[in-house]
Amino acid sequence: MERTLGIIKPDAVSKNVIGKIISIIEENEIKIKAMKMVKLTEEQAKGFYYVHKDKPFFNDLIKFMTSGPVVLMLLEGENVIERWRKIMGVTDPAKADEGTIRKLYGTDIEKNAVHGSDAPETAEYETKYFFNALEVC
Ligand code: CMP
Repeated sequence: MERTLGIIKPDAVSKNVIGKIISIIEENEIKIKAMKMVKLTEEQAKGFYYVHKDKPFFNDLIKFMTSGPVVLMLLEGENVIERWRKIMGVTDPAKADEGTIRKLYGTDIEKNAVHGSDAPETAEYETKYFFNALEVC
């Protein structure tokens, strides 16, 4: 069993597709062990995306991620880090496979509907960044 962090980003929340994305998660036998909807502060978003702090898109990414509510989810399942990334599709929705969440609901390479941790170490950091032990069922 593995855990990862999933985020439904502000573009998908404003498109009213939270339920559709959760259905896809459940249809894929992934368990939601914790979930909350929050509007991130600039400080919280910057801390979460600190690995991208030197990238040219960093400021726009922070602006986007704080532009509206997000849904944070702690996901659990077998091989869930890799499986959730496959279900999401690649970063750029225009290049994502048919049927993936980013193809279905993403807007562009920045506003790409969902996030998933990319490796076990990042999954550990990211799940603990947003959820404490008492919040995980
Ligand atoms: P995410 O999987 O949340 O991880 C980092 C985010 O940065 C990514 O999704 C996109 O939202 C954004 N991102 C990555 N590459 C680019 C890019 N080339 N231009 C703009 N935004 C990007």
